[in-house]
Amino acid sequence: MAAGAPGSPLCLATTCLLLVLLLLAQSGGGQKKKENMLAEKVEQMMEWSSRRSVIRMNGDKFRRFVKAPPRNYSVVVMFTALQPQRQCSVCRQANEEYQVLANSWRYSSAFSNKLFFTVVDYDEGADVFQQLNMNSAPTFMHFPPKGKPRRADTFDLQRIGFASEQLAKWIADRTDVQIRVFRPPNYSGTIALALLVSLVGGLLYLRRNNLEFIYNKTGWAMAALCVVFAMTSGQMWNHIRGPPYAHKNPQNGQVSYIHGSSQAQFVAESHIILLLNAAITMGMVLLNEAATSKGDVGKRRSTFRLITPVYFLFPPGRFCRSDAGSVATCLLTGKSSNESAMAGRVPPPRNGRGYGFAAGPAKVSD
Ligand SMILES: *[C@@H]1O[C@H](CO)[C@@H](O)[C@H](O)[C@H]1NC(C)=O
Repeated sequence: MAAGAPGSPLCLATTCLLLVLLLLAQSGGGQKKKENMLAEKVEQMMEWSSRRSVIRMNGDKFRRFVKAPPRNYSVVVMFTALQPQRQCSVCRQANEEYQVLANSWRYSSAFSNKLFFTVVDYDEGADVFQQLNMNSAPTFMHFPPKGKPRRADTFDLQRIGFASEQLAKWIADRTDVQIRVFRPPNYSGTIALALLVSLVGGLLYLRRNNLEFIYNKTGWAMAALCVVFAMTSGQMWNHIRGPPYAHKNPQNGQVSYIHGSSQAQFVAESHIILLLNAAITMGMVLLNEAATSKGDVGKRRSTFRLITPVYFLFPPGRFCRSDAGSVATCLLTGKSSNESAMAGRVPPPRNGRGYGFAAGPAKVSD
């Protein structure tokens, strides 16, 4: 029997070897193709993100670059509805925070092709919303490099709000990327201060020959009261937390000026408190005047008759501890005194409920 004749064991072995080699070569080619595709995708994503820190995506791009394998990068997607006709004010606020976060990543020294920030707008990718069975915006989702997103890959906006820092923490949990949030400095405060200083300086300069007014008690009292009103009504809290002015319920269009929770407030709420504080103080000043001035007795008496009942009806200290601010707050809002006083002055812990939940996500559907 000749070696290599058809049917011989050696021939069989050779054929087998050839077949295996062929298969290997083919799968190697497939592997190579996949790798090329991946490299292409990564390059494209890098190119987009070099132009914009948040990549805008329509349905096709989303399916190709976010959903379909092969991928070796994480993608964070904000599903939103930014078109004005959608009337989603939360979306705009969330978008600002998201931009801050994406820029912090884009311009950090750790920036790499591991993580990309993208956005899908309802009006550009309604099909994506349908595919994911999503009917509210904004929603943040993380798409891991391997496998499908799990439950925790959807950011819990209702519970923790959408401050950039919270988003960064969530991303650090889901990926191994730590982003230090860098907020662009806000110069409006500095400019206001410079304006104030130059105004006061100018005034002093103009009146340099007559500086009597510096000793004017009323002027100083007024200035001090302004500071007190600003602080007791919670302007500092507003400054730190940046809450919305008021909240319009997207379902029934009702506008609320007072926040339902004792942990937060709207700007409108603090203005109401400010006015009430001022009114209470004004009443006190008038009473004092009426008691000590030497004017017409009848007039002074009627001032007392007019004002005193108000203080009997709402005696400061009966509802709340002592200061007019918390009295006004708790009368008006029904929040308990301690809590309302806290809401007025001290920012709650950062990991408490964020302010974002206040407005709640808006419905998007046609
Ligand atoms: C993903 O794969 C591409 C192509 O192989 C490579 O250039 C890139 O560095 C990879 N990215 C990561 C985060 O490993």
